[in-house]
Amino acid sequence: MDRELFLRELKTYGEKNDIPNISHENAQYLREMLQSNNTQHILEIWSANWYSTINFAIEMERTWWKITSIEFSQNAYEEATENYETAWVAHIITHYFWDARDIIPLLDETYDFVFIDGLKKESLNFLKLIWDKTYPGGTIVIDDVIKFRYKMESLYEYLKQESITYELIQIDDDDGIMIIKKPMN
Ligand SMILES: C[S@@+](CC[C@H](N)C(=O)[O-])C[C@H]1O[C@@H](n2cnc3c(N)ncnc32)[C@H](O)[C@@H]1O
Repeated sequence: MDRELFLRELKTYGEKNDIPNISHENAQYLREMLQSNNTQHILEIWSANWYSTINFAIEMERTWWKITSIEFSQNAYEEATENYETAWVAHIITHYFWDARDIIPLLDETYDFVFIDGLKKESLNFLKLIWDKTYPGGTIVIDDVIKFRYKMESLYEYLKQESITYELIQIDDDDGIMIIKKPMN
């Protein structure tokens, strides 16, 4: 199985079927970040059909570390299940079919990389939910923070109010990501 080819096909399928997968450029950028950070445990909040998750898994598999991924749409969950079996990455992933708002408080693990890619107006809520589950020094990435900034004003205000620093990276013509490094203390 050529997994990179499979990912290209999955991306094309997503474009034809209006699945809001991250862009190829974004996937490559995040994969490099996972490698350079020597990431050990990812929490992905909202995985859809697993295009992003499989990209992450290919990097994580090299070191046998793991991913916890959450999705609450039945269709997306079923498609994801098919895709991760095809891509042979299930062994390093725990996949919850659950509303992320309900499951995150029940998770008793800590993560060094959190990827938030869902309802933009919920971004602040998710940041607060995952904060104590992220290791000091860990990385939190939020997707689509430039073009949808108007939906995320409460997030930007909160970061300013709490003096939490962040970096905005324009990834491609479409949009960019926010990177927050959780302070060490
Ligand atoms: C932007 S897509 C994720 C795309 C994926 N990261 C990728 O790049 O392949 C957002 C997904 O979040 C799911 N979602 C939205 N709200 C959710 C919630 N509260 N809990 C779990 N999943 C949710 C939607 O069903 C949708 O599939």
